[in-house]
Amino acid sequence: MKIRELKVYPPVVLAPMVGLSHSALRSLVVELGGVGLLYTEMLSARRLAHENPDRSPLLLRGAKEKPLFYQLAAANVDHLPAAIDKLHRLQADGIDLNLGCSAPSQRIQGSGLALSKSRQELLPVLRLLRQRTALPFSVKIRLGESLAPGRLVDMCSFYEDQGVDCIAVHARLDQDKFCRKPRWSAVAAVKQAVNIPVVVNGGIFSVADARACLAESAADALMIGRGGVYRPWLFAEIAEQLYGLSTKNDALNKKDIYFRFVDCLEDRFPQDLQLVRLKLFSRYFAVSFAFGHQLASAIQNADDVDEAKGRAADFFDQCTARELFLL
Ligand SMILES: Cc1cc2nc3c(=O)[nH]c(=O)nc-3n(C[C@H](O)[C@H](O)[C@H](O)COP(=O)(O)O)c2cc1C
Repeated sequence: MKIRELKVYPPVVLAPMVGLSHSALRSLVVELGGVGLLYTEMLSARRLAHENPDRSPLLLRGAKEKPLFYQLAAANVDHLPAAIDKLHRLQADGIDLNLGCSAPSQRIQGSGLALSKSRQELLPVLRLLRQRTALPFSVKIRLGESLAPGRLVDMCSFYEDQGVDCIAVHARLDQDKFCRKPRWSAVAAVKQAVNIPVVVNGGIFSVADARACLAESAADALMIGRGGVYRPWLFAEIAEQLYGLSTKNDALNKKDIYFRFVDCLEDRFPQDLQLVRLKLFSRYFAVSFAFGHQLASAIQNADDVDEAKGRAADFFDQCTARELFLL
């Protein structure tokens, strides 16, 4: 996949996720291989100018976390020029506009999905972004309120006309819950209608899902969110089995990967910012174990990172070798 001049290979992308798509997870998935593009979690355009890049958990970044798109959440143009200038200084590889998040915090502010509902508000934001940056510029959207014929395609053609370089489509309707089966085939119409790359997202948890999703959507790339935290080696598996790229994770097991994440966390974040991120990561990572709830609750109740590490070690010691395989 090529977004403007940026080559993305393999076409497998880490999704933006609040509290999860930070420097430690990004470093881990880059190290395990198979990821061609990374996203930050959403960053408030209003607050971005005041974030300290040396301390803010939103902006900390290691040299190997490349290419990296920074995702902006904005309700209007008010703070955008300063936010974009800051992303240029931070050497962003691309900028994404969040047009798909329906969380109440975004709805109240008029950003995310809410912004996509008002062309009057949206148009100046898209225009300003396109005028102020020559970086690759993507939007991340949902399918809309219904699958009414032509609606999604019209919207995506509008984005293309405004100079957007890539559209990432979370293949769920606005009101769909994350547990609902994604509607990958709805993305195929977008792919046919626009001449910019289309990334499909939602419900990819295995190599089989990745294969089916690509077949149904005909998209240019896959974007993976939760599946990449449940199983951070999923990108490498997909890259190997769909794109023939070899990675060297055979010698690793889940315990190694968990503690590698902890190393990345300790390496990147000040101590007071580590535990909350370890707890959230553990809740997701635990899903890949039959008795993962024991790991999740042990970490949830830890008072500091050392205690969490001890509890995780105890949990892994009780697992069989088979349970620790990268399955
Ligand atoms: C904890 C969490 C935080 C998320 N934060 C963001 C975000 O900051 N920006 C965004 O566009 N989407 C966000 N999402 C949505 C994901 O990017 C993705 O669209 C969604 O999880 C579906 O993909 P998946 O099934 O691969 O997880 C978030 C999802 C989760 C689970």
